[in-house]
Parts: sequence; C-alpha cells; structure tokens
Amino acid sequence: MRSTVIAPSILSADMSRLGEETKSVLAAGADFVHVDVMDNHFVPNLTFGPIVVKAIREFGIKAPLDVHLMIEPVDRIIPEFAEAGADYISFHPEASPNAEHTIDIIRQSGCKPGLVFNPDTPLDILRNTIDKIDMILLMSVNPGFGGQSFIDSVFDKLKAARKIIDKSKYNIRLEIDGGVKIDNIRQIAEAGADTFVAGSAIFESANYKSTISMMREQIALAKK
Ligand code: DX5
Ligand code: ZN
Repeated sequence: MRSTVIAPSILSADMSRLGEETKSVLAAGADFVHVDVMDNHFVPNLTFGPIVVKAIREFGIKAPLDVHLMIEPVDRIIPEFAEAGADYISFHPEASPNAEHTIDIIRQSGCKPGLVFNPDTPLDILRNTIDKIDMILLMSVNPGFGGQSFIDSVFDKLKAARKIIDKSKYNIRLEIDGGVKIDNIRQIAEAGADTFVAGSAIFESANYKSTISMMREQIALAKK
C-alpha cells in the first residue's frame, strides 16, 4: 500500500484568512492542500482561480497543491494553474472534448494529471488513460459544495479502482473526495483509497491537529 496522504480542502477554510488557515492545517499534519476550483457553470458554485493559487504560494506554502478543476472548458486555463504553482491538476472528463489531450496539456505544463469521476460516472475511460495519469479522484458526493454526506455506493467503486491501479503497476494515487470523516475514513481506506480529501471534517473541527491525528489512527487500523 502506498503512503497515506491527507489533503484538506480549503473550500471549508475561513476565506478571509486563507494563507494562515492553509499554514495551520499543514502544521497540524496535513500532506497536500486540496484546491476546489468551481466556475458557476460546470458546477453551481464559484471559488478560486489561478491568482488564488499564486497567492497561496507567495504566502510561503511549500506543500503539494492538489488542484481539482470543476470547470468547463478546461484546457486553456491549465497552464495558468501550473504557472501559479499547482502540482497535481485533476479534471472531470465530461468537461473536456478530448480527455487524453487535456491530460497531455497538464503533463506538458509540468504537473501531474488526474481524472475525476462523479459518483455516477463509470471508470471506462481508464482503459485508454491509465498509463497517462498520476491520480484517480473518486467523488463521493456530487461536486459543488462541501459538507455533504458520503455516498455509500462509492465503496465498491473504490475497490474497482484499486484493482485497476494494482493491476496496472503504475504509480497512481487513489483519492477520495466528499463526506470523509473520522468515523468513515477507516472503511474508505479498507476499500482502497490512499489519498483523503476532507473539508468540513477538518476545518469545522476545534483542533485541526487532533482531527488529522484521529484520521491517521483510523487509517492505520484499516485491514488491507
Ligand atoms: C466538492 C469538493 C470537495 C469538498 C469536500 O465539490 O470537491 O473537495 O470540498 O468537502 P467535505 O469534506 O466537507 O465533503
Ligand atoms: Zn475536491
């Protein structure tokens, strides 16, 4: 099993103190920073653009920035996110007329490409793309908002994605996003996730450090 990554979603941070919030969640033990980019078109909400990613970097954040694009069209703006300091860039294949081309743009921009699957989107496209990506991101809520409940049918999908990754022998992270909490993270890890996005569970908790530690303890208990 790969190393565990905890990636707090700054969508749930106090936006008036985004730099400090990002710093504290990393000081509390987070590994990646998950940046939810929404466009009021592909999803009904509007959040961050490349200037915010750049501002986070300029604030002194060195951790990997895991940028989740929920935008359409997607290709043109990818180099701007790369230039701003993104490490991983993931997109929804529905938002691209040619997902393989979009993956190439991300790679050519110097970032690690990821494909995102909504709860109802099948994994079929992986057949042609598994050798080109660094991350599979499974949505366990319908994208657009933080604070929703985990959709249980995604457990089976995680198991299926884990099998695909293991069979491929490629070095691909399996990330889960939406409704991840201390009390379900162990089961999510058992289903095969190694990278855990959590927004409200961390940022709405009184103590980021103890929440992240409890998440890690639960993950360590998972039977794999
Ligand atoms: C939803 C976003 C998620 C969300 C997770 O569109 O992609 O990253 O912020 O938030 P929680 O952990 O609160 O479900
Ligand atoms: Zn996300």
